[in-house]
Amino acid sequence: MNVLLTGGAGYIGTHTCVELIKAGHKAIIADNFSNSSPKAVERVEEITNTKIPLYKIDVCDKEAVEKLFSENKIEAVIHFAGLKAVGESCAIPLAYYRNNIDSTLTLLEVMKKHGVKNFVFSSSATVYGIPEKVPLVEGMPTGCTNPYGWTKLMNEQILQDAANADEELSVVLLRYFNPIGAHESGRIGENPNGIPNNLMPYITQVAAGRLKCLGVFGNDYNTHDGTGVRDYIHVVDLAKGHVKAINYAQEHKGTEIFNLGTGVGYSVLDIVKAFIKANKIEIPFEIKPRRAGDIDECYADPTKAREVLGWQAEKSLEEMCRDSWNWQSNNINGYD
Ligand code: NAD
Ligand code: UD1
Repeated sequence: MNVLLTGGAGYIGTHTCVELIKAGHKAIIADNFSNSSPKAVERVEEITNTKIPLYKIDVCDKEAVEKLFSENKIEAVIHFAGLKAVGESCAIPLAYYRNNIDSTLTLLEVMKKHGVKNFVFSSSATVYGIPEKVPLVEGMPTGCTNPYGWTKLMNEQILQDAANADEELSVVLLRYFNPIGAHESGRIGENPNGIPNNLMPYITQVAAGRLKCLGVFGNDYNTHDGTGVRDYIHVVDLAKGHVKAINYAQEHKGTEIFNLGTGVGYSVLDIVKAFIKANKIEIPFEIKPRRAGDIDECYADPTKAREVLGWQAEKSLEEMCRDSWNWQSNNINGYD
């Protein structure tokens, strides 16, 4: 299939692009590089030995999106493009709503005009809000604690409504848990702007000497060692989930929601220890107060993805730690 990846130059988009091409699909990327670099796409071309049509456009710009659809026979869209920093979304909520909602509406309208019927959306485990219990199952209640999360939940609603109104439309909503790791080549990986908010990029930057010490946000959670528990998933496993989702969309109409996680929760200290063991590098850390908005535990029940999509995560925590460091150590300043 000819698949448009909006935000395809980003962390998850680049890895998905590699897996789609490996599976025989054709990828077309649209990205405004607000949080990425064209160099990332060059690296994907190098890994896959394939030229990838690249449009430097804002996917809220309808005219530009129209032009892209007129120039390419798009058969499916994977919509990664979005702003994704939780703290920033509280400071500039309107920018988040404008970018993350407008982009989806624009794509749906242009897709309708061009008769494109397959849509895969990057949602997040954040839509479960403060869960009553874990593991999280797709049918559990949703609710958000920040504007970023609301943009994900609102997009889920918009996409479901669009599919309800058009019996030809297929929508697959993928709720990602915590992607870490990188392609085994070490040529593509996560490249956050400024000081990382998320755990693994912070750890790799401490390992690289760019940051001095990891702050562990709280050790009084109701977990096995008191630090927060999350479902870390290798980004290549996550990327493969998108290939399954595209195939599923092609064969089924309507909306389906899938958790993409491993089903296993690791604490912050489990991750630190696993990183030290896998890479033989010390990570100095100190216990800091809890971070506002954090929860004790968040991990997936990935049964539905296994049974319906035929997908499950395969890579171990050791591989996640090794590949995260392989990327960072070979690219101390990311793509710069
Ligand atoms: P990323 O920032 O690396 O990639 C997003 C890409 O979208 C970037 O290349 C950015 O330049 C581009 N972009 C943003 N707005 C755009 C616009 N209006 N037009 C064109 N391009 C635009 O992020 P990522 O980690 O690869 O995440 C991809 C998607 O998955 C996002 O929607 C994110 O919210 C979602 N998600 C990510 C995580 C995670 O932990 N990384 C977890 C859950 C969900
Ligand atoms: C965060 C976002 C979530 C988003 C997800 C994936 C918040 C509140 N939530 O989730 O919406 O979907 O990223 O992008 O930002 N930690 C430390 N020290 C650090 C960084 C993190 O101890 O320097 C801890 C956190 O307290 C948490 C765990 O590590 O217990 C994972 O944190 P993080 O990587 O930021 O992911 P989430 O909080 O799960």
